[in-house]
Amino acid sequence: MNWPAEETPPAEATPTPVGSAAGDPAFRPVRADELAACAEIWRHGINDYVGRLNQPEVPPETAPIVRLYGHLQSTDPERFVAAVVPDGAQPDGERIVAFAAAVMRERLWYLSMLFVLPGYQRAGLGRSLLARVAPAVDAATIRATATDSAQPIANALYASLGIVPRVPLLNLIGLPERGGVFGELPSGVHPTAFEEIATGPPGGDGHRGLVDAIDALDRDTLGVAHPMDHRFLGQEGRRGWLYHGPDGRPLAYGYAGESGRVGPVAVLDEALMAPVLGHLTSAVTPRGAFALWLPGTADRAVVPALQAGFRLDQFPVLLCWDRPFADLSRYLPISPGLL
Ligand SMILES: CC(C)(COP(=O)(O)OP(=O)(O)OC[C@H]1O[C@@H](n2cnc3c(N)ncnc32)[C@H](O)[C@@H]1OP(=O)(O)O)[C@@H](O)C(=O)NCCC(=O)NCCS
Repeated sequence: MNWPAEETPPAEATPTPVGSAAGDPAFRPVRADELAACAEIWRHGINDYVGRLNQPEVPPETAPIVRLYGHLQSTDPERFVAAVVPDGAQPDGERIVAFAAAVMRERLWYLSMLFVLPGYQRAGLGRSLLARVAPAVDAATIRATATDSAQPIANALYASLGIVPRVPLLNLIGLPERGGVFGELPSGVHPTAFEEIATGPPGGDGHRGLVDAIDALDRDTLGVAHPMDHRFLGQEGRRGWLYHGPDGRPLAYGYAGESGRVGPVAVLDEALMAPVLGHLTSAVTPRGAFALWLPGTADRAVVPALQAGFRLDQFPVLLCWDRPFADLSRYLPISPGLL
């Protein structure tokens, strides 16, 4: 089913018509042992166009993205779907040529991944897969995703369905060489590491209190709670802090990890955004550089981050949605793959 990372994917010049001699594609849920094959489609799908733009290619190391896929599949297995074509050279007689992965978090549907192998693009596969993982369009459900601004097909496809690019998501890389510009946390606001709050047995008062505080901050800023994603962040080694006000009320939370990933961050008052980022990027020492994903609307984060020495990296990603749902001046997402 999978092909070696170094093997070139099918030729890209002529899209293979869906339902052609290459065989009709069939659609089915992805098996857990096929996540690495999906990661290769993701890598080839990106490298196919970034190479033409003289941008750096995605390296062969896909373990982190495979772990993300494992999480997406564990929460929404029916929304992780592959398109397969007959291939007699494969042990099970078929080969994945495209896949989509989406999650439902309360009323928010988020498309995490949609990738079609270069030789199979522009032949209707992406639209068919999207239809299979999308929710029914109704008044309650919000549909959102993130796209690469350098990718017109994806932006056009989603926008044609109402999921329109709205806000840039900027990738900032570096170290806080002038971290002082983030400013101090206001007097009386104290960070407490999650592990100091969630003491006692799992499911006990400490754990429940932390989950409730995070859920409330998420609903206030992102519009939905997503405790399953917070559990995943803990497994991924991101450390979290809850910021309490003088009266003990939770005012914000934020994460940073030694991998350098910072976020998600949620703050009740956007004035807290910069000092919380300042705290996170000083409380953790990354193995390399920090990597921040900042919505353009979070100018309270973007401006000090640039002044602190972070550098803008790559073309912006675009956050797309069909109706407003979050306050992205007060919420920084996990990554483009998972809000
Ligand atoms: C984006 C992607 C998933 C789309 O899948 P696909 O199978 O190539 O797309 P489809 O053929 O199903 O649909 C593309 C639609 O966009 C339209 N389209 C393409 N380029 C367009 C443009 N520049 N302006 C307007 N419409 C455009 C096509 O006409 C088609 O619409 P139609 O169904 O009404 O004819 C696929 O091209 C891909 O994997 N690209 C590289 C990786 C990527 O960017 N993935 C998305 C990450 S955000």
